[in-house]
Amino acid sequence: MSIRAASAPNIALIKYWGNRNEELRLSAADSLSMTLDQPTVEVIADHAETFAARGFEPGGAERKLAEKEADRLRKHFLLVKRYLDAIGAAEAFPAGVSLEIRSKVPRGVGLASSAAVFSAIAEAYAGFAGELSRRDVSVLARLGSGSASRSVFGGFSAMIAGEGDAIGASYAEQIAPPAHWNLRDVVIAPSATEKATGSTEGHALARTSPLFEKRLRGIPSRQRDCIDAILKKDFEKLQKVAEEDCLDMHAVMASSAPPLCYLSEETHRIIREIEELRTRERLPVLYTMDAGPTVHLICEERALPAVRVYARAQKNCAIFEAGVGSGSRRA
Ligand code: PMV
Repeated sequence: MSIRAASAPNIALIKYWGNRNEELRLSAADSLSMTLDQPTVEVIADHAETFAARGFEPGGAERKLAEKEADRLRKHFLLVKRYLDAIGAAEAFPAGVSLEIRSKVPRGVGLASSAAVFSAIAEAYAGFAGELSRRDVSVLARLGSGSASRSVFGGFSAMIAGEGDAIGASYAEQIAPPAHWNLRDVVIAPSATEKATGSTEGHALARTSPLFEKRLRGIPSRQRDCIDAILKKDFEKLQKVAEEDCLDMHAVMASSAPPLCYLSEETHRIIREIEELRTRERLPVLYTMDAGPTVHLICEERALPAVRVYARAQKNCAIFEAGVGSGSRRA
């Protein structure tokens, strides 16, 4: 039996950075994101004797997985079994699987594909396990990449950190469906170079920053403000809280030991210019950056023409655009 599933990345408005349990990817704090409608990743999973995974490029050519990627996928498979065991749903789950991961995420746009990959895999594994709740699927996704738990839901979703060390203690839930608010994400990627430290290693460094504890204390009220802004479609409030949280996460990153400086000169220039542009033209647009120099410009539809013109005028940058997506699904 072959199971197909597809998913897409999400962009965090309240950032997930730091775990309370690294192995199980139990988050140190809540986070919140908007699920994108593209680029998609498709996964085909089949029963097999052992675990094996193959990756394919956007053009369809096979891409040899790095040792580290293959290890992460294998580890995820074992954690999924452990979780299904814990909830009494492991019976129909196969001893091994063969996975095909077909990514449409263009190289060099600075969009991390792990959220799309692990939410699509979670959806396919859930197909083997039988009827699982959406929360269970979000836990399966989280075991591969914390942010992937949020891509299980369409529209706007939150990761609830929860408490304790139970494997299912952190999970995601939907805040508002895709049709709630037609925001757009115009992505400007100034650099095509691979990042030096991935987020898995980065999370483990968060506690070395003297700013981390303060960040953790501030997140509950930011998360509440962000949910409120989304429910009321209050863009100005969303802009303030999302930008504050993004800069706070980057301050934690930059003050960890060793420091992680993901933002470049280009990122800072784009931020300055966007601040000027939105003041001058009164545009509902906000900026946010994940673990890289890529700037996501999230805007309301009426700001889109001006934001597009700005993005297209950037030299040596890859540009990408997405809307609000519907989350991972069985294909
Ligand atoms: O899901 P991970 O382990 O790749 O972590 C994602 C971390 C950020 O992208 C920086 C923030 C987020 O909430 O997506």
